[in-house]
Amino acid sequence: MAASLRFERLAIRGLRNLTALELEPAPRLNVIVGDNGQGKTSVLEGLYLVATTKSFRAERLATLIQAGTERASVVAHVSEDGLGREQRTLLGPRSRVVRLDGKAPKSLAGYATRTPVVVFSPADLELVSGGASGRRRLLDRVALFVDPPGADARLRYEHAMRSRQRVLDERGPAARELAAFEAVMAEAGARFALARSRAADGVGARLGATFARIAAPELGIRVGYVPGGTSDASLFETKLVEQRPADTRRGAANFGPHRDELELELDGRPARSHASQGQQRLLTLALKLTELDCIREARGAHPVLLLDDVSSELDPERTLAVHELLMTTESQVFVTTTRADLFPERPAESPDRADFRLSGGALVQSLGRA
Ligand SMILES: Nc1ncnc2c1ncn2[C@@H]1O[C@H](COP(=O)(O)OP(=O)(O)OP(=O)(O)O)[C@@H](O)[C@H]1O
Ligand SMILES: [Mg+2]
Repeated sequence: MAASLRFERLAIRGLRNLTALELEPAPRLNVIVGDNGQGKTSVLEGLYLVATTKSFRAERLATLIQAGTERASVVAHVSEDGLGREQRTLLGPRSRVVRLDGKAPKSLAGYATRTPVVVFSPADLELVSGGASGRRRLLDRVALFVDPPGADARLRYEHAMRSRQRVLDERGPAARELAAFEAVMAEAGARFALARSRAADGVGARLGATFARIAAPELGIRVGYVPGGTSDASLFETKLVEQRPADTRRGAANFGPHRDELELELDGRPARSHASQGQQRLLTLALKLTELDCIREARGAHPVLLLDDVSSELDPERTLAVHELLMTTESQVFVTTTRADLFPERPAESPDRADFRLSGGALVQSLGRA
């Protein structure tokens, strides 16, 4: 049985247009309503930041800091099977500090796997229709939980890869220093490739059944993991030496897990180019549900779900997503929407639910908890 996991209190300061916001979420469903630009996604961003130390929409964390201020902070009280903890993330223009119950954690990865969260936002449509990098990121989020040391090897791998490429660009394929960088690339790259393939196995094993549950069952789906490298370190090193001239010409490494692809096929054809818009949306939802399942199983706790912008009838699958998720998971869920009418249930009758209304970055109404 997976542990229950809940945000019980949240305080966000100086993050985008949220000057000072405090929330007491309900254990199950939290509906955040507001017009465009009022700060709904920023609340989810705050939750994601304090859980993962990252943003799901910005590469540079400094962009989260409220204009005119020097730092942003998120403090969260989380309970896991009834046991409380405090997680805290502070951002400065060039710094990120995290604290777990007031102490510096042993590692950032250790901190970022304490409170698993899964986001589903409109940008996720790219998962099916876009390039391979989005699908690699999904595998990496799963890998972080399925194989933490392997996922950790990624940074060492990428660092060595950049150094090797610099040498190739400046001194060519015969440069002496290449061997040392390639040794690191082969060791870390093989370890990271193993984590990726473990994550891909987990996703591959579940995606079919999940997709069949939400889409027309006769629609055949196939997931194929195509590794760009290998988990055999000595083969990896041999390949790197072989590829030196080609990598010099191309200005980038041709071999390695940074070239992994997760192929998705519907009825024998690539989903990216052949699936209809509606099928792509359903496949995206199935991928997110699968991410949730894999992380829950590996972490042994129900990840918190952040559903951004469940908004319009142009987007019936996202409304279906909420329904599906609420029916099939025990996760705490945060939904943002411009349309309160999508969630008409009266909060007073459901103690597990809270409704929040945001305007200009401030809470103007909060219902659902006595
Ligand atoms: N660093 C920043 N400092 C101050 N304000 C910011 C910063 N970054 C973004 N904003 C503003 O914060 C506001 C809230 O943005 P957010 O994306 O959270 O809105 P939203 O409620 O999700 O809107 P939508 O319904 O359009 O998705 C926007 O008006 C945006 O311009
Ligand atoms: Mg938004």
